[in-house]
Amino acid sequence: MVLIKWRESYSVGVAQFDMEHKVLVDLINDMYSIVRHHDDNLTPEHEIAELIKYTQAHFRGEEETLEKCGYPLLDEHKKIHAKLEQEVLEFKEQIEKCNDTLGRCSEKVISKLYLFLRDWLINHILEEDMKYKDCVNSYEGK
Ligand SMILES: [Fe+2]
Repeated sequence: MVLIKWRESYSVGVAQFDMEHKVLVDLINDMYSIVRHHDDNLTPEHEIAELIKYTQAHFRGEEETLEKCGYPLLDEHKKIHAKLEQEVLEFKEQIEKCNDTLGRCSEKVISKLYLFLRDWLINHILEEDMKYKDCVNSYEGK
């Protein structure tokens, strides 16, 4: 298991979205710290709540811009966002339910969550967000 390292190849060419994607990477990497280093300053419940909040705001921002630039795959992109949001909410429930007698969620569940989130974000950026690159970059009011 390794931390996500931001690469230039992840850039969608829009400074604001790149910055937000980097924040998402940081939030997901915090999940890694929880599993690996038992970082007591971070709790999975807190991290997942932050991630959900940030993801929802980021997705709405992307959708708004895609609407303005007339992105032809907007409906499909919105559906993918909705599915991703649903999946993270399901993980949140799993985290809430998995607390053991010490009030801690097992490493196994958190590792699974970290790996899921890592693929979830990177695949979404590389496969879906990349498709809007030209549309957003050709739109002057971005
Ligand atoms: Fe997206």
